[in-house]
Amino acid sequence: MKSIIIKKSKSLKGEITVPGDKSISHRTIMLGSIAEGDTHISGFLEGEDNICTLNAFRLMGIEIERVKKGKLIIHGKGLNGLKEPLDVIDAGNSGTTTRLLTGLLAGQNFLSVITGDEYLRKRPMKRVIEPLSRMGALIHGRDKGNLAPLVIIGHRLKAMDYVSPIASAQIKSAILLAGLFAEGITSVTEPVKSRDHTERRIKAQDMDIPGDISSAAFFIVAGLITRGSEVLIKNVGVNPTRTGIIDILKKMGGDIEFLNERELSGEPVADILVKSASLKGIEIGSRDVPRAIDEFPILCIAASAAKGRTVITGASELRVTESDRIATMSMELKKMGVKVEELPDGMIIQGSQGFKGPAPAGSRQGARVQSHGDHRVAMSMIVAGLVAGGRAKGGSTESIDTSFPGFLKKLSELGYRI
Ligand code: S3P
Repeated sequence: MKSIIIKKSKSLKGEITVPGDKSISHRTIMLGSIAEGDTHISGFLEGEDNICTLNAFRLMGIEIERVKKGKLIIHGKGLNGLKEPLDVIDAGNSGTTTRLLTGLLAGQNFLSVITGDEYLRKRPMKRVIEPLSRMGALIHGRDKGNLAPLVIIGHRLKAMDYVSPIASAQIKSAILLAGLFAEGITSVTEPVKSRDHTERRIKAQDMDIPGDISSAAFFIVAGLITRGSEVLIKNVGVNPTRTGIIDILKKMGGDIEFLNERELSGEPVADILVKSASLKGIEIGSRDVPRAIDEFPILCIAASAAKGRTVITGASELRVTESDRIATMSMELKKMGVKVEELPDGMIIQGSQGFKGPAPAGSRQGARVQSHGDHRVAMSMIVAGLVAGGRAKGGSTESIDTSFPGFLKKLSELGYRI
């Protein structure tokens, strides 16, 4: 297990880019594979989650060329071009790979099996299996059909108008992808609009994938809470279904500006300029959650550094992400001396205490924290360490490669000495 010691940071300054968007990278592989002809991709995120999706399609007979880092050519074989996978599909840690593929594979004329790592095998799959079964899908799993490994027996599907109880892009996308292979017209209605990258990708197109706002978020918060900082993050996707984090941080008093706004392969893109600011606590409710669902771990760090109380509610979805992020973030923040109260669907964070770490002031000994195998918890705790008293020791950092290979190098590009 790799662990890292983080010492207090001076101001962060400079320009960086962040790796390609994870959600768009998944969808580009999936839709490029079932499109007719070639799709040229640049900016593909070569993180572990996306590599799992890429390997799955290679296993189903799709030729995918890697021209150089982040640059791929997919030789799509059309809607009926996938072949029965020769082996079990390994989705690793990736919920998006598992759920979207379950939808895509339900209507094929072959059998497939999907599994993943110990964390993925604990995440609920009924949320996609139940609606897909109503379309005629035959899917088996452990725990009465809720947990991977999943066995998908390809079957004829009929279309459905689905009203989803959860605002989830993974559920929506699984059903829409199944709908491509179903008889009739499929529709999905969701309680609050979730990310819309699947719907945007339906026309075959070459893709230049923008930077992932979910990765940029770590540097946005780092820039805000580290005194005297000025950070420019270039070429970031700012699709309005993903910019909840920006709205929340601005409401907290964040100094964040979008520059050079433009469109790239059908997605809104901007350069994001961040200057340090004093943040204040706010209330965040269920309507704010879907547009910032992946950003809550780092938002907890912003809230801990802010003046006053931040109350997060309506966020019970965080209990079923890569880790139970309400539990893991509460536990780890407490180790750093932050006052946190866990709620069933959120948390109350008492800011303005500073991150003290448990050791006496002036001691070099800081808090020892853990990542729980969750990439976003790992990166969030590293950002917390930048402003903590003492040296914060982070637990295993391997999980960072799930979504952000090179994260620490980016931090050093902004002047931080590891
Ligand atoms: C994703 C959707 C979100 C998000 C995940 C990626 C996607 O999950 O948490 O990291 O690419 O569709 P839900 O759709 O379950 O909220």
